[in-house]
Amino acid sequence: MNWFSEAARDLPWRRVRDPYRILVAEVMLQQTQVDRVLPKYEAFIERFPSLQALAEAPTADVIRMWAGLGYNRRAVNLQRTARQVIEQYGGVFPRDVATLVTLPGIGPYTAGAIACFAFEQDVAFIDTNIRRVIRRVFTEPAEQVGERTLLALAQAALPAGRSWAWNQALMELGSLICTADAPACWRCPLRDRCRDYAARRTSDEHLPTIPVRKQIAERRESPFIGSNRYFRGRVVETLRSLPPGTTLTLNDLGPQVRPEYTPDDEAWLTALIRGLERDGLVVWDDAGVRLPE
Ligand code: ADE
Repeated sequence: MNWFSEAARDLPWRRVRDPYRILVAEVMLQQTQVDRVLPKYEAFIERFPSLQALAEAPTADVIRMWAGLGYNRRAVNLQRTARQVIEQYGGVFPRDVATLVTLPGIGPYTAGAIACFAFEQDVAFIDTNIRRVIRRVFTEPAEQVGERTLLALAQAALPAGRSWAWNQALMELGSLICTADAPACWRCPLRDRCRDYAARRTSDEHLPTIPVRKQIAERRESPFIGSNRYFRGRVVETLRSLPPGTTLTLNDLGPQVRPEYTPDDEAWLTALIRGLERDGLVVWDDAGVRLPE
């Protein structure tokens, strides 16, 4: 906690307790790095400053504001949550985890983050960074531990009444020091209590032979290009770049999504669009395909 009070980055969502803003930040941060989220978060909050504003906006605008963040379904779910909080809870954000997880796109992590970061409740939850820190500090490197165990460990470690700072601190430690590839144990405040560090010190196997960043970059790029998610993104990206309300036929859309598209690929494109339609990302009728206005 002392380390956090000195090392913490000044991030806009750490200055507020408005559950709406915390929700937006946490949903954006689920799959996207802090540096990339920062400008998108600011722009999103400026365009949709409140739950009400988000609920009332055309869905197409929400999808447009999501450009550059990826996983566009998150944008649609965010708006669905805003609408549900207004319709079902009179615009008052639910505070308890059990209710929060019933909202669209809100899983145990996001529900816990809102309960803790907006309402300052003593709630434990696990994201990639917290998981890694808890795993390294409290469990043996070779030990098989399930999610349930990690959550119990995280729960037991919570300092009553100070869980807001505690959970932020775990995340900060995980992203600034206790990183996956190259943990900076030498400047880690938990070094003397960390089981992983103790094991690293007595083993010569802890140094990766290939820089791990590179391995990850190689693993990531190639299978993504050409994947279903890649082409879903291409469809949304194409529609997003057009003036509001523009509708494209399959034959217009196909080649923009995939340069080598031919009418033989129509079944493939149809399946892709049906999926996007199910997720509320596009509308498809006799006129063609467009973003939901
Ligand atoms: N990643 C997810 N939530 C975060 C937060 N509140 N601060 C920094 N990084 C995060």
